[in-house]
Amino acid sequence: MKQSSLLAGGLIAAPLLSNANFYSGASDVIKVALIGCGGRGTGAATQALLSKQNIKIVAMADAFRDRIDRSYKELTADDMSDYGIKGNFKAMIDVPEERKFVGFDGYLKAIPLADVVILTTPPGFRPIHFEEAVKQNKHIFMEKPVATDPEGIKKVLAAAEIAKSKKLNVVVGLQRHYQNSYRELFKRKDMIGDITSAQAWWNNDGVWVNERKEGMTEMEYQMRNWYYFNWLCGDHINEQHIHNIDVINWFKGGHPVKAQGFGGREVRKGKDHGEIFDHHFVEFHYADGSILNSQCRHIPKTSSKVDELLIGTKGKIYCGAANIRDHKGNIMYQFDKKTENNGYQNEHDELFAAIAKGEYKFADAENGAHSTMTSIMGRMATYSGQVIEWDKALNCGQNLQPSAYTWDTLPKSLPDENGKYKVAVPGVTKFY
Ligand SMILES: NC(=O)c1ccc[n+]([C@@H]2O[C@H](COP(=O)([O-])OP(=O)(O)OC[C@H]3O[C@@H](n4cnc5c(N)ncnc54)[C@H](O)[C@@H]3O)[C@@H](O)[C@H]2O)c1
Repeated sequence: MKQSSLLAGGLIAAPLLSNANFYSGASDVIKVALIGCGGRGTGAATQALLSKQNIKIVAMADAFRDRIDRSYKELTADDMSDYGIKGNFKAMIDVPEERKFVGFDGYLKAIPLADVVILTTPPGFRPIHFEEAVKQNKHIFMEKPVATDPEGIKKVLAAAEIAKSKKLNVVVGLQRHYQNSYRELFKRKDMIGDITSAQAWWNNDGVWVNERKEGMTEMEYQMRNWYYFNWLCGDHINEQHIHNIDVINWFKGGHPVKAQGFGGREVRKGKDHGEIFDHHFVEFHYADGSILNSQCRHIPKTSSKVDELLIGTKGKIYCGAANIRDHKGNIMYQFDKKTENNGYQNEHDELFAAIAKGEYKFADAENGAHSTMTSIMGRMATYSGQVIEWDKALNCGQNLQPSAYTWDTLPKSLPDENGKYKVAVPGVTKFY
């Protein structure tokens, strides 16, 4: 926001890029392709443009033409005051008609044109998009979650290794890692001794619904209403609660080894609510015997809470309040909230600064895959009602993706004669 006057007319005072020569072109501009031009994609593109580096958006890809048009209109608006910005980004958006790619294969055309790719489609596509971007030697910002099924996780883990060997910077949008309060709490985690248990919450009203419209193929309907289909979204335990689960994994220094829990659909069970649950409660067990009690609920008019708590032998870390207390409640550390930053902005600031300097600093993909797999393991536990073990879950072969990505392909989950989808039944549903 501080650079608002520089932004007027796109006049960013950009430092020269490093001599590391990360780029294919002769200029010092960092070329960015946006793959998935929805709400988050447009937001991430904006944060990239605000990152103080010399950036140009050169290509946009989306499954749907109207989403590209909306995003392009927002990014090239004369008035960016909604973003708290004076002036606009027009000079930084260079996406003529021939570099707007519509359809499932748009990513294949957009990726080669860029130095950095922003991957912000629904998470079902993340594994193939990430794999392709790594293959083409691009630096990557990709949103969480990074997959929706164990086969997707394996793809991401394999590509993450290759990205490391090629020294490609990869940032995953688990933005708490880029937020001052979490970083300061993490530095001081030893103040609470050994972490013996934890709690994590993502409880709120839920999200949008896109109803079926006449003339839509089943594939188009599911793509438009993606939140409610597991091949695209992975259920809300994966889609949103991953943020909180990831914090606990981060502070624990690893992922759980097994999970058991329960869940179901109490209120969200209409035709347009696909196959996902509206509540999950999972007990995640770590190898050292400590337990994370995790809960997520999407039910209107219930109490809301999005937060994490870590409990140790000597005290507790309250992430939302950003403080550390002993077991009597005395504050041992309080983060100064006046020094809080915007994690969404900072993840882009740090990524693009590293790229501009020719530095290799970020390898978030493996952690992103482990936290995504933790959420998926939780989903398997609530869907089946069984104890689910990490290794067996990861290797169970579950692949929710359709046989092909075309508008006429039938996804694996289809409606019955009443327009309802098959929903998991604990005690009946099995994964291995
Ligand atoms: N880190 C965060 O706090 C945060 C916040 C919001 C969203 N997100 C993540 O961002 C991702 C996108 O969410 P959103 O809210 O922007 O959803 P959205 O529906 O607004 O945008 C997704 C876009 O991707 C497009 N798309 C779908 N399949 C595609 C494909 N195969 N190729 C190209 N484009 C495709 C859609 O048409 C749509 O325009 C999700 O993974 C979500 O979890 C993260």
